[in-house]
Amino acid sequence: MHAHLVFIKTKQYIYMYNPVEIKKDLFYVGVNDRTTELFENLWPLPQGVSYNSYLIRDEKVALIDTVEIGFTDVFLKKIEVLLGDKPIDYLIINHMEPDHTGALLFLLNKYPNIKLVGSARIADMLEGFYGVAENVVIVKEGEELSLGKHTLQFSMTPMVHWPETMMTYVKECKTLFAGDAFGTFGTLDGGVLDSQLNLDKYWDEMIRYYSNIVGKYGSPVQKALDKFADKEISTICSTHGPVWTVKENIVKVIGLYDRLSRYEGEKGLVIAYGSMYGNTEQVAEAIAAEAAAAGVKNIVMHNLSKSNLSYVIQDVFKYKGLIIGSPTYNAKLFPKVQNLIDELSNKNLKNRYFGYFGGFTWAGTAVRALGKFADSMPFEIVCNPVEMKQSMNEDVYEMAKTLGKNMAEKVLSDDAIVPNQTTDCE
Ligand code: FEO
Repeated sequence: MHAHLVFIKTKQYIYMYNPVEIKKDLFYVGVNDRTTELFENLWPLPQGVSYNSYLIRDEKVALIDTVEIGFTDVFLKKIEVLLGDKPIDYLIINHMEPDHTGALLFLLNKYPNIKLVGSARIADMLEGFYGVAENVVIVKEGEELSLGKHTLQFSMTPMVHWPETMMTYVKECKTLFAGDAFGTFGTLDGGVLDSQLNLDKYWDEMIRYYSNIVGKYGSPVQKALDKFADKEISTICSTHGPVWTVKENIVKVIGLYDRLSRYEGEKGLVIAYGSMYGNTEQVAEAIAAEAAAAGVKNIVMHNLSKSNLSYVIQDVFKYKGLIIGSPTYNAKLFPKVQNLIDELSNKNLKNRYFGYFGGFTWAGTAVRALGKFADSMPFEIVCNPVEMKQSMNEDVYEMAKTLGKNMAEKVLSDDAIVPNQTTDCE
């Protein structure tokens, strides 16, 4: 039997659940999560995350996305402050992932006549996730819905980053409700608008969010950016992180998404390695020192037994040079190195200068396995791999320095990366 929640009318003090007015009749009703340790139960949240929801109050009332289930209470109170006993006419579901639809059943219990608006894929997902099959309105590319003074225009943006995803643009106030696109990790501490916040923490958290969550889908992101290239956008309302209202920030976030979705890295180098007893690490140190001597300032070294994969992926998406090293472990790659290359392969990483090194130990598998990975990816391979037997010797040291120097020349150049080509080194 289906259980129904009953909302009992109480005299609650809800005035403190103050929604933020972004512009006339458009309100932020999202929440901050400073409790959850892992986003999607995978990616660390040391600075928390916000689940953003928005409400447009017009002749008809539209709510755009909801919040994660654990924050339903605060969410519903924020809506009640705005609407009192008035109903909500539409819930626009730009994205079905439960961090944005978790509050749905509670919302339906309180507002049973609400119409659920989304792309063709959401009907199936609404039934599958929540057993909901009624009051669903399917919209198509370019279709419009008038609320009175606000006209919602829907654009399908599949795989940014689920197949049902769409974005909603309000013509009159030039506001784009972008779903996860342009989102960041990090809570909204005090302010909600970019103009109210110190944005320092959000830029790297935007790259981490993009690379961890959306990163596999560079090509769909490019298609979505193309759709909005000719539209005037004065406000971007993402489902995570600040609301973007300042012109230079809007240019910056769109530029960042454009660059990341083309897998275009900055001038810098990531050296990610596994090392059981420090021998493989010594090769990494030698490569890094030589690259620094050749002028590369942006060098990030990740000991993969310590660095969380989330941050390694962030840095790999940020910089155009990548060198990976591994000892041979049980006749395979070191497990943490295997994890990394599996993730990078799954995320369709491209457009990188790539070098690799490893420890033969007693079976010599590591360098062979990294070579297979290199050949399977559209990378420009820099130098022959550096293979060490068990520990550093003079020959290995010289090879490591050669790799560091040549990689530095590559990442500091403005040359186009040539996929599936190996550069010989001297
Ligand atoms: Fe924020 Fe794809 O959910």
